[in-house]
Amino acid sequence: MRSIAFFNNKGGVGKTSLVYHLAWMYAELGLSVVATDLDPQANLTSMFLNEDRLEQLWPDGQHSQTIFGAVQPLLEGTGDISAPHVEDISANLGLLVGDLALSASEDELNSQWPDCLDRKPRAFRVLSAFWRLIERAAASRNADLVLVDVGPNLGAINRASLIAAEHVVIPVAPDVYSLQGLKNLGPTLRRWRTEWSERQARNPVEGLSVPLGRMEPAGYVVMQHAVRLDRPVKAYDRWMTRIPRVYREAVLAISTTDSPHAVAEDPHCLAALKHYRSLMPLAQEAHKPMFFLRAAEGAIGGHAQAVLDCYHDFRSLAQSIAQHIQFP
Ligand SMILES: Nc1ncnc2c1ncn2[C@@H]1O[C@H](COP(=O)(O)OP(=O)(O)O)[C@@H](O)[C@H]1O
Ligand SMILES: [Mg+2]
Repeated sequence: MRSIAFFNNKGGVGKTSLVYHLAWMYAELGLSVVATDLDPQANLTSMFLNEDRLEQLWPDGQHSQTIFGAVQPLLEGTGDISAPHVEDISANLGLLVGDLALSASEDELNSQWPDCLDRKPRAFRVLSAFWRLIERAAASRNADLVLVDVGPNLGAINRASLIAAEHVVIPVAPDVYSLQGLKNLGPTLRRWRTEWSERQARNPVEGLSVPLGRMEPAGYVVMQHAVRLDRPVKAYDRWMTRIPRVYREAVLAISTTDSPHAVAEDPHCLAALKHYRSLMPLAQEAHKPMFFLRAAEGAIGGHAQAVLDCYHDFRSLAQSIAQHIQFP
């Protein structure tokens, strides 16, 4: 099983939409996939499921079928994680269901982090909880690939989610916020990696599966939908041409004077995705990926061609990521 987290501490760049569409695309390409919603906003879950199903999964005060429900006994000190429910989305696509209550785990994940250095067993159970859920969910579905969606911050939930990921794909928008985001994100990922490796070696619990914390940057995806149309083209170009250098310096920690000026020439650029305009709301309405929209769902006229183009865009992105992480 391989795991990829999609991360940028700037919100609204398109993480959730990417995870959603890539999960469907990898399943379409024949892999068994588990999508994991570790963002307490649970947007990924609401993209996959309609309101009737969400009401069943999120009854008042109960969390038996969500990620939070599975870690709740551990957080409350009444036991360890319980077997996670994996929601069937299609034959080879499952979802670890998100939950707004997950934000309640932030404090505990935060306070247990230093305790790992003191070899405290509970600290390792708590910090490995998301990883162990992912591992169990993947085993139950015989998954080849786990895609993880997280919220837009550098907090303790994300630290625990990211150390559970072997690879990290970074969606970026060509603007000042997104590039500033990279400057915080890169050093933070490296710090988490170092700090977890110091901790991991002190795990005293025999037989407890703890993550490796590799978090290897797999590359970035330029999300052009996030470009403000009222800005002059020059501003857009300026940020676009800075992405390759900022990615190298901030994320890969290599200082370079000869990085490419165009993302199209940058081997670390996995894709530049366009603004899919009205396909996105149609897809959200239908709870389907944009590339599976049919005429009955509004994909008529010019939309029909856009749906085909979208299919090819996501198929090549899926293949490009697979190549970068050396996934056969
Ligand atoms: N390629 C795209 N084309 C058009 N709209 C998009 C695209 N990617 C994302 N969006 C829209 O942008 C908004 C933010 O995307 P989202 O995936 O929720 O970002 P994040 O998870 O980073 O906060 C959503 O309204 C989404 O529908
Ligand atoms: Mg999101």
